[in-house]
Amino acid sequence: MTSGAASGAPARDLMEKVVNLAKRRGLIFPSAEIYGGFRSTYDYGPLGVNMLRNVKDAWWRSMVVMRDDVVGIDAAILSPAAVWAASGHLENFTDPLVDCRNCHERWRADKIEGVCPNCGSTDFTEPRSFNLMFKTHAGPVESEGTVAYLRPETAQGMFTNFANVLTTTRKKPPFGIAQVGKSFRNEITPQNFVFRTREFEQMEMEYFVPPAEAAKWFDYWVETRVAWFLDLGMPEHLLRVRRHEPDELSHYSSQTVDLEFLFPWGWDELEGIANRGDFDLQAHARASGERLEYFEQSTGERYVPHVIEPALGATRAMMAFLLASYDEDEVAGESRTVLHLDWRLAPIQVAVLPLSRKEELDGLSRQVLGMLQPHYMCDFDTTQSIGRRYRRQDEVGTPWCVTIDFDSLVDRAVTVRDRDTTEQVRVPIDGLLAELASRRGA
Ligand code: GAP
Repeated sequence: MTSGAASGAPARDLMEKVVNLAKRRGLIFPSAEIYGGFRSTYDYGPLGVNMLRNVKDAWWRSMVVMRDDVVGIDAAILSPAAVWAASGHLENFTDPLVDCRNCHERWRADKIEGVCPNCGSTDFTEPRSFNLMFKTHAGPVESEGTVAYLRPETAQGMFTNFANVLTTTRKKPPFGIAQVGKSFRNEITPQNFVFRTREFEQMEMEYFVPPAEAAKWFDYWVETRVAWFLDLGMPEHLLRVRRHEPDELSHYSSQTVDLEFLFPWGWDELEGIANRGDFDLQAHARASGERLEYFEQSTGERYVPHVIEPALGATRAMMAFLLASYDEDEVAGESRTVLHLDWRLAPIQVAVLPLSRKEELDGLSRQVLGMLQPHYMCDFDTTQSIGRRYRRQDEVGTPWCVTIDFDSLVDRAVTVRDRDTTEQVRVPIDGLLAELASRRGA
């Protein structure tokens, strides 16, 4: 019996199961729960913070660490109105909002197809533009001059720092600036767990290219981003590439594709890849009076680079990996829940499990733990029967369990159990690191 997205189309109750698992096992908690919760805001628990960090690390590794043409930055979240006036967000970052005249719920007009999802009424107010940015004031005096915004995307930090990065790194197009961090949008209808929330994390990269090369690099990044998901174990049948129609394009984009994931409610956006042209650099150059261009000394050529942008939500990506990896199967006549997560994403990578709580096993078990900890995120669990402990690890996607028993004291060997096959192999402690390395294909 299987019911997860891992084995085909997602089952109807998959969402509920993943949300329950996330809460029960400390992956994702509703925020401020002791005060009744804060709608659509979530906290990442002890296992969730590990997994979210792993998603971000995997992205950073492939986008920055393993490349010599991309550098990272970490820009401020709070920014002055001038940035958002120039970027066009003050004017254009809006959703059309309508009120249902019957039940008074508020909806995004473009998401409800004329029927109120709450009461079924078709009687709405005229659509109004609603700006999605969170506005605040910096400093003790509230005046027009102190207005500040929480960034609704990390991208603008890359554009406002373009000249700083260019002069300090001596990079030349094609080159990219990457950033991972929080963004905030006052979404009218946050929904579907962490799919659309008001506070979320983004992983974005702005790739600056000579204008004539934009189309080539756009195709390159679509391919590269699909390959990233597949490499991390995302099943191919749950991903597709969808080109935006002209009327869907954002105010800055001339070409966009969405990498879509087959969520339990259907295909929906996972990541956007946009050709932003020179929209942002031109806009910031005009508004700031700074020169935001590239000067090629060898030819004397001066130009404003065009930008290809892969933009992914870290929290949305984590949710997609959870949904894709969730499965239920049977082991020795017993049903189990298992997350078939790639070892790089798993919140716990190795569980060290002494067979008994007796003191004799403690010393050697902690020695094994100490040997593994510099290389893997480990758990050390001595509670309950070994079978139940295996199930608990399977449920959160731990790829390997290492069991220490009384024979280990004599033969200096441990049992390694594989999450997916449940196969167990006896391995000398001295060879344990090499065994795990070979299992992860290192
Ligand atoms: N800089 C371009 C940009 O921000 P976007 O399509 O609005 O483009 C990029 O956002 C990605 O950020 C989305 O594909 C999605 O993964 C994530 N994202 C956007 N809004 C989100 C929200 N309210 N909650 C969670 N993730 C969100």
